Amino acid sequence: MEAGRGVDAQVNEIQAVHKPLEAKNSQSGVPAGLIDFHCHILPGIDDGPGSASESLKIARTLELAGFAEVYCTPHCIKGVWENTPAIVRRAVRDLQVLLDEAGILLKLRPGMEYYLDEFFPQFLTDPQTLGDSDYILVESPSRGIPDLIKENIFAAIRAGLKPVLAHPERHAMFAPQKEGSGVLFRVKRLLTRHRPVDAHYPAKPLLFALSDMGCCFQGNLGSFAGRYGKDVQQVGKQLLALGMYTHFGSDAHQPAGLSSMLEKGLIIADSEGAEGCPALFAAG
Ligand SMILES: [Fe+2]
Repeated sequence: MEAGRGVDAQVNEIQAVHKPLEAKNSQSGVPAGLIDFHCHILPGIDDGPGSASESLKIARTLELAGFAEVYCTPHCIKGVWENTPAIVRRAVRDLQVLLDEAGILLKLRPGMEYYLDEFFPQFLTDPQTLGDSDYILVESPSRGIPDLIKENIFAAIRAGLKPVLAHPERHAMFAPQKEGSGVLFRVKRLLTRHRPVDAHYPAKPLLFALSDMGCCFQGNLGSFAGRYGKDVQQVGKQLLALGMYTHFGSDAHQPAGLSSMLEKGLIIADSEGAEGCPALFAAG
């Protein structure tokens, strides 16, 4: 949070920005607020917090930023973090008890962040989806193979699931074509704004091919805040403007720096994507 301004004033400002979300969430039986669809808040089961006290700090920060629901999505990577639905659900129950005891008004839901490598199909027989939904959060390896990504997304859809690709803005392979001179592109986009989004580009980039298959996309608030550098921030804003995101998340691993990142990311997400992303933060 910014120095010199009260935490309450800043939280009120963020919550005011997302006022329309409150009614939607209040219908689901949890306190009004935002939904974090991607968070490594569970202690000791991946590269997230190493202790419950660190998890509680993350939880308190999310609560202060206006969140009411958090999907706990530890990595599931064969040979690295082989988490199972049973492990995640037990960890969610245990942490929820600690949150309740601490008076933190966050509802935790189970989830997972599956790695789109050659082992991914093995996990489709008993997947941990986002809560009780059909959505399954997946991530690309840093040097993902486009054909394998497409095959895995198709396998998830064939299994009756709705894949949600985590933070595509962080991987260059998913970036739409550069906008060139800017002015010409914007004029063209204005003139063709009623056409499908990939009509703006001469060749269909991987992201749009996945979208056509039925894949959803989750943006990281930290990307919009500049946490991963200017290139990622620019692509994130571009995807916001194109209305590609269906879900958003903190992707929080540690409490350090989380408060300011959330504040900045929420404001940019709202200002850049309000027109193109009517489903900002709404439960899927
Ligand atoms: Fe993650």
